[in-house]
Amino acid sequence: MKPVKLGLLGVGTVGASTALVLQNNAAEIARRAGRKIEIVMASRRSLAAGMPEGSGDIELTGDPFAVVDNPEVDIVIELIGGYEPARELVLRAIARGKHVVTANKALIALHGNEIFAAAQEQGVNVAFEAAVAGGIPIIKSIREGLAANHIEWLAGIINGTGNFILTEMRDRGRDFADVLAEAQALGYAEADPTFDVEGIDAAHKLCILSSLAFGIPLQFDAVYTEGIGAISTEDVVYANQLGYRIKHLGVARRGNGGIEMRVHPTLIPEKRLIANVDGVMNAVLVQADKLGPSLYYGAGAGADPTASAVIADIIDVARTITTDAQNRVPHLAFQPDQIVDIPILPITEITTAYYLRMSVDDRPGVMAEITRIMGDKDISIEAILQKEPASGVTRATIIMLTQRIREQQMVDAIEEITRLDVVHGEVHRIRVEALDGGA
Ligand code: HSE
Repeated sequence: MKPVKLGLLGVGTVGASTALVLQNNAAEIARRAGRKIEIVMASRRSLAAGMPEGSGDIELTGDPFAVVDNPEVDIVIELIGGYEPARELVLRAIARGKHVVTANKALIALHGNEIFAAAQEQGVNVAFEAAVAGGIPIIKSIREGLAANHIEWLAGIINGTGNFILTEMRDRGRDFADVLAEAQALGYAEADPTFDVEGIDAAHKLCILSSLAFGIPLQFDAVYTEGIGAISTEDVVYANQLGYRIKHLGVARRGNGGIEMRVHPTLIPEKRLIANVDGVMNAVLVQADKLGPSLYYGAGAGADPTASAVIADIIDVARTITTDAQNRVPHLAFQPDQIVDIPILPITEITTAYYLRMSVDDRPGVMAEITRIMGDKDISIEAILQKEPASGVTRATIIMLTQRIREQQMVDAIEEITRLDVVHGEVHRIRVEALDGGA
């Protein structure tokens, strides 16, 4: 049987690894796919850099459109990243009747609805396993493995760079900028690392996971997004003392009133497996009505793990074009006419517990004033920790954990507490998720 021919767009960290793994594991891949798979043409910005040594006989061009237009190419592998020209290239490939494999979460989160509609019309596949959680086959697991279930919620550590930074800060007290530079050198970080630090990369991925879990259109703008920039070493230490770990989490939950989609730093009880996912590793915990909880863990970034997911998609497409040309598995897990527009809750309507840290005057009555405000707002306090001030210091730090409440109650309480003369500076707030079956 004729080999399946690939056109590769982008020979960066992931592109180079994809070319090498396809070559190095060629025999095993052909056994799995039922066909030989080979890259016939690749594009990269700097032609002088060439193709990585050992990646075979591949025609290299500086023009990505030449790859898409090459009639020999069956599958276009988009590893350029970013919105444009990736969107234009992918739509053009689809219009030419080619299948597409991409690792581009920004592209799928923002333009996936348009891309999938075009692919559906043309009867081609757009596969994007590598877009979420690097090498972990989370998309296949949700879309196929959990297809019998109602998914109730999912929560994931889905940005390797952010998790690497938080872990190094906690374990080695390393400086934020220094760890970020290392993550960039290791090929974990996005081309624009603010996407990692500000939670945008995680929001892209959560948007995709939410659509797969609940059968809703992709709507990146509806994801509430906070990054890790405001987390201090102090908070990490206090959280540990209370038996929690701080993780940057993406949470999607289906409730009676609508769907929560949010990305923010979160306290998680340290006994949870997911609280112990460190470094560049990712994990996604899925609560499904029939399976119950299941946890998917693995490398969330990096050249080879991401190439692993890219090539799994290539093999899937190769199998499909070998057997029949129809989409065997719908792009967003649900049949296109079953995608429903369930309302997305504003962040003020979500329900969660909170960790609070504030600096207050160390004198009688202060705690009573604060707890009165909490009581007035119907907020129940789960734990309070007050550190004894050093001698000669007149201010104390108070740490509180609340029970689960609506975010608006917390916003109102914080506003009132901040206005008290005895409270100094900002009231620091981090959401807490127990991540047990009922949460
Ligand atoms: N920058 C991303 C991360 C790469 O750190 O998780 C994988 O999507």
